[in-house]
Amino acid sequence: MEHIIIEGGNTRLQGEVVIEGAKNAVLPLLAATILAKDGQTILRNVPILSDVFTMNNVIRGLDIDVVFDENNKEITVDASNYILDKAPYEYVSQMRASIVVLGPILARCGHATVSMPGGCSIGSRPIDLHLKGLEAMGAKITQSGGDIIAKASKLQGANIYLDFPSVGATQNLMMAATLAEGKTVIENAAREPEIVDLALLLNKMGAIVKGAGTETLTIQGVNRLHGADHDVVQDRIEAGTFMVAAAMTNGDVLIKDAIWEHNRPLISKLREMGVEVTDEARGIRVKADTASLKPVTVKTLPHPGFPTDMQAQFTALMAVVDGESTMIETVFENRFQHLEEMRRMGLHSEILRETAMIHGGQGLQGATVMSTDLRASAALILSGLVAKGQTKVGKLTHLDRGYYQFNEKLVGLGATIKRVKGDA
Ligand code: EPU
Repeated sequence: MEHIIIEGGNTRLQGEVVIEGAKNAVLPLLAATILAKDGQTILRNVPILSDVFTMNNVIRGLDIDVVFDENNKEITVDASNYILDKAPYEYVSQMRASIVVLGPILARCGHATVSMPGGCSIGSRPIDLHLKGLEAMGAKITQSGGDIIAKASKLQGANIYLDFPSVGATQNLMMAATLAEGKTVIENAAREPEIVDLALLLNKMGAIVKGAGTETLTIQGVNRLHGADHDVVQDRIEAGTFMVAAAMTNGDVLIKDAIWEHNRPLISKLREMGVEVTDEARGIRVKADTASLKPVTVKTLPHPGFPTDMQAQFTALMAVVDGESTMIETVFENRFQHLEEMRRMGLHSEILRETAMIHGGQGLQGATVMSTDLRASAALILSGLVAKGQTKVGKLTHLDRGYYQFNEKLVGLGATIKRVKGDA
């Protein structure tokens, strides 16, 4: 066990920070490599994260060759030989995102067995939309001994309307449809940049996917897919986390090569608060006079709305801005647990169902707190930067799922923060 210790209160983040490839892009991209019967797939700009190791193991469990060259941040996958059709429980159970292997395995093998994802701290996260979509494509789905078993000797193109633009369901169905007979249309599809990145790779592999980034995806099935070479898109949530960190700390930070379009909903709220955000040739600069910022109301929504994955970090910013801010979380029903931990740091807030009222600007004090999920861990560390005195943040396994060298990057910007062995 390790924890992070932050000496906070006087931190002013300044300088430049480099952002990794996106965790939420690389996981489905790895799932897509299962589809390639010919050649190797090379993914570049891969973030070195525990979730990536887990997904590599899920894929290795199918008897697929996966080599992670960490020095060059590259993964090479060779799925050209016979593959198994059962994703091992040992790894699938560690990460809900593993469910995106269901569509590709089924499309390639005509049969797939994948463990049913278990509980999750941020919400109930059912997978009904994934399964309904596959059924619409002709799959017979049953559940036995904790496994989902899907069968379809050949998936059939279908018209699928998603009740909610689920990221994972869109990815699973898009991948399954690449090898289906005929055309699949997915309406009310998710529009996240990670969907666009997946479509880019699939098309390089020989698939015919159109409309990625819009609410209607059209996939014309093909007989066979091959390997390809692909750079993983930048992590907009890591970039956003550093933008918020700069805004909270009176900072002046250049987030190198950050993609304006992908962060537009966050940038719009930062600007509404009074944060200076500029699009420079080398990235996005975020500058703030924190004391002059104004409270705002934010509602999380599927892309291009405000991302739920920035909600926790943004509430940490709201906590240092004078006045009443409101955060409405509409995507996950239990994603305010960081606020309970921040209460230990002196945060004044009230939560009523999906709405949190943050009474900001009353000062935070250092305390020992525990990460409750990935984004909560980032929010607690950012809070520690501005809290007076020492903050210890524990349960870093959450942080390691999605942030590479988070404390080192913050040190590079001037924070006094270290990672040490032992419980917090
Ligand atoms: N939902 C259903 N039925 C389904 C699928 C989803 O009701 O069949 C509901 C979920 O319960 C949730 C909402 O739809 O309330 C959104 O879920 P979605 O399927 O869009 O999320 P996901 O694919 O499971 C991805 C990211 C999450 C991110 C969400 C929303 C990955 C690996 N994970 O999850 O990332 O919060 O989209 O943007 O891409 C994170 O990085 O911290 C993280 C949790």
